[in-house]
Amino acid sequence: MPRIVEPTDSAIAQAVGQLRAGKAVAFPTETVYGLGVDTFNITALELIYQLKGRPADNPLIAHVLDVEQARELVLEWDERCDRLTKMFWPGPLTLVLPKISAVPARATAGHDTIAVRAPAHPVARRLLQGFGSSLSAPSANRSGRVSPTRADHVAADFADADDLLILDGGPCQVGIESTVLDMTQEVPRVLRAGGATIEQLQQVLGEVRSPSMIEQAASPGTSPSHYAPATPVELIDSKQLQSRLAASRDPMAVLCFDVTNVPPPHQAIIMPDDAEHYARKLYMAMRQADALGLSQILIERPPDAGHLWRAVHDRLSRASKKHPDQPVIDF
Ligand code: TXA
Ligand code: MG
Repeated sequence: MPRIVEPTDSAIAQAVGQLRAGKAVAFPTETVYGLGVDTFNITALELIYQLKGRPADNPLIAHVLDVEQARELVLEWDERCDRLTKMFWPGPLTLVLPKISAVPARATAGHDTIAVRAPAHPVARRLLQGFGSSLSAPSANRSGRVSPTRADHVAADFADADDLLILDGGPCQVGIESTVLDMTQEVPRVLRAGGATIEQLQQVLGEVRSPSMIEQAASPGTSPSHYAPATPVELIDSKQLQSRLAASRDPMAVLCFDVTNVPPPHQAIIMPDDAEHYARKLYMAMRQADALGLSQILIERPPDAGHLWRAVHDRLSRASKKHPDQPVIDF
């Protein structure tokens, strides 16, 4: 079993020792938990792909303490990056930039760009401070599973990883992953919607291109079947919820806004009606729904009101596209 530990100074020191020895450490960020290794240790990078069952062509995000550390990994850093990081760092924004040759190809799955992000969670920052260098860290879930927003989610996904140390930083505040922004273009492109909203990015940059299915190839980890529980997920409009439930004899798990819409034998998991709290709870609710072991998860479609709802909708539509017969492609 992995070890979940309180993030005391001695636990952080122990985690730094593990990282220096080429091992992985799971740590909290404000978005989701990450599974970190030394960006410059090729064997440790391999370990991450093995542990997660992650396809070899899916690049990792390098977590840094600050702009100074980020700049050590990239070839170019322009004033747009300065403006963005001033506004969003530390926080849920990842920038994709051309990498320096000293960054191992394994850290970026062979891409000549690297994704960099300074996380805001104090435990992540203490770990980065102690380690003194960049940590490459995907979300700490098995490939194809929902990202973890609590330490016990990580332990559940890696139950057989005996010496894995998990720093417990409590539940993640943002709850969905960072926004990934491709800065190699004249007009920056959002490759993955996330904690930093497009509206906020537009305020800083002016023009920003939004995610579209065509752009999936540019960020391999964003194919539709990501972020999915094992139970099939169906998104449903509020208006159709009651008739759908009435028509089903098999009990279903329902992520909904109003418990009175969900009669027995179905099981309701109540979701907040504002985007921030919805995002914070979403992955935990999906894991809870999954654990009920029912035949179907129904998710009542939230409002489509831009901002953080856009990232929520992105995750919901990916979760609901997974088909049980399809192989899972994830990171
Ligand atoms: O919030 C987050 O970003 C979390 C926490 C732990 O920081 N991390 C996370 O990492 O979600 P991961 O590996 O699960 O997702 C990283 C995403 C993937 O979609 C990947 O394809 C994309 O970032 N990415 C990484 N490097 C890239 C690159 N060089 N070019 C394009 N996309 C890249
Ligand atoms: Mg992930």
